Amino acid sequence: MNEIQQAFGLGGRVAVVTGAASGIGRSVAEVLARAGARVVLGDLDAAGAEEVAAAIRAAGGEALAQRVDVSQRSEVETLVERATGEWGGLDVMCNVAGIPADGPLAELGEDEFDRVVGVNVKGTLFGCQAATAAMASRGRGSIINVASAAIDLAVPNYGLYALTKAAVTQLSQTLAVEVGPQGIRVNVLAPGITLTNFTARHSKNPDGSVDQERYDGFISAMQSRSPLGIVGETIDQAWLVLYLASDASRYCTGQIWRANGGATIPH
Ligand SMILES: NC(=O)c1ccc[n+]([C@@H]2O[C@H](COP(=O)([O-])OP(=O)(O)OC[C@H]3O[C@@H](n4cnc5c(N)ncnc54)[C@H](O)[C@@H]3O)[C@@H](O)[C@H]2O)c1
Repeated sequence: MNEIQQAFGLGGRVAVVTGAASGIGRSVAEVLARAGARVVLGDLDAAGAEEVAAAIRAAGGEALAQRVDVSQRSEVETLVERATGEWGGLDVMCNVAGIPADGPLAELGEDEFDRVVGVNVKGTLFGCQAATAAMASRGRGSIINVASAAIDLAVPNYGLYALTKAAVTQLSQTLAVEVGPQGIRVNVLAPGITLTNFTARHSKNPDGSVDQERYDGFISAMQSRSPLGIVGETIDQAWLVLYLASDASRYCTGQIWRANGGATIPH
């Protein structure tokens, strides 16, 4: 094994990825498995997670799928226990599961607030708590939490979503300080527009079909925000997560990592 494979490889490591049935979480699970990790894929969509796990196994990797609702603490604990039970420990925890929220803050109802905070904030917190409990005794681990470019901008109708992602960022940085002495690193991924089901909602008709004109308009509006003139794909986020999961990033903790095409550079 050469120096690069040693620094970036995940051979013998155990990882849990939430939101792994789709989009960024799926790509992250696939890349971590290709780097040698054994991966537990958690998602509300159990069939989708199993499909991704089966594809990883078919490609020669090691993967298991488990249904989880990250807003339920006991389910997140069970997800992490699946990894430690099957493979003896936990090295990498990727809290990717998240949901969008649209609408002005002036009209935000309490039920909607609780629903989105439940998944995006409590889900991430529960994932961090279960992971640190599993990692502490081993004296090492890497936690990657997913925020958003929404933490850098005040966009009308994104207030609730943005505040949940700001909370994810703050909890990650405080946790990084708290668990650093135990050898556990905590970092934040703040993706810019990345093409997934999450972004597809902007161009769907009420019957679920894609409105091509709206889709094209959305893509070109998002491209124009990047000095590079591009929008991201899930693999752009997954490569960064691989770096943060691996020993190559051993000196990095409590940081916000922005794969966003430069869209949030103040200019
Ligand atoms: N796509 C983007 O442009 C973008 C940008 C910034 C941040 N993000 C963040 O990236 C993360 C992944 O988003 P994506 O674009 O891949 O979306 P996606 O909709 O493709 O995937 C999200 C996955 O999370 C799962 N999920 C939803 N609620 C869950 C719950 N309660 N418990 C377990 N699983 C649940 C869904 O079933 C789905 O498989 C989210 O946290 C999102 O906020 C996405």
